[in-house]
Amino acid sequence: MSELRLGSGEDFISSAEIAERTSALADYYTDLYRGEDLVILTVLKGAARFGLNLGTMIRNPKTVEDFVRMKSMEGTTQHEPVYLIEPEENIKGRNVLVVEDIDDSRTTLSKLMPRLRDQGPARLDLVSLLDKPTVEKVVEDLPCDDIEYGFKIADRFVVGHGLDWNGLHRGLAHISVAHNVSIEDGEEYWVPLVPEEPSRITSNSDSGFMASV
Ligand code: IMP
Ligand code: MG
Repeated sequence: MSELRLGSGEDFISSAEIAERTSALADYYTDLYRGEDLVILTVLKGAARFGLNLGTMIRNPKTVEDFVRMKSMEGTTQHEPVYLIEPEENIKGRNVLVVEDIDDSRTTLSKLMPRLRDQGPARLDLVSLLDKPTVEKVVEDLPCDDIEYGFKIADRFVVGHGLDWNGLHRGLAHISVAHNVSIEDGEEYWVPLVPEEPSRITSNSDSGFMASV
């Protein structure tokens, strides 16, 4: 018998840590776009919470919020990303901050960012709540001026604060690691999803905070 369960409570990235990091990133973007216009382009659905919170905290009176939606995952399996909702704003000549939930294999971003770059924004910046730096990326570089991450995490399947597993658990305020739990002879065995090495990341902390499990 085997089932999917979450890691316990606030053990991975707590809601307080997320709020603190979001506020620090908002300060950074307040400075970066001071006196200029800004289009915050949030990638639905996963980045919705993070993007709206950032939009609330970035102090810039010339901010417009827009959304884009790609579809790329079923369960824990990747598929070729498809544009489901296109941005409404004309971004030509404007400063654009793309807000993503996670930079995993980078499949989604490798399709989205060049499309946006082709539309001629003045600046194209990217902020992703999470990065999995040990995952092999489909492209090494993304066409943008600046990339920031909230947290760099080990290669684990995580849920919460917008991230889902088959549509579930987006509403968690914190981020949890999804575990597969099997029961043998009444004993529970908890194995984190995506069990590859390493379980703990200790380097690569140049941008964003580190979280380990
Ligand atoms: P990509 O592999 O970087 O293209 O990631 C594509 C999308 O898959 C992300 O924007 C997420 O929506 C989803 N995804 C990737 N890793 C996780 C995870 O650990 N938990 C939940 N969703 C994930
Ligand atoms: Mg996403």
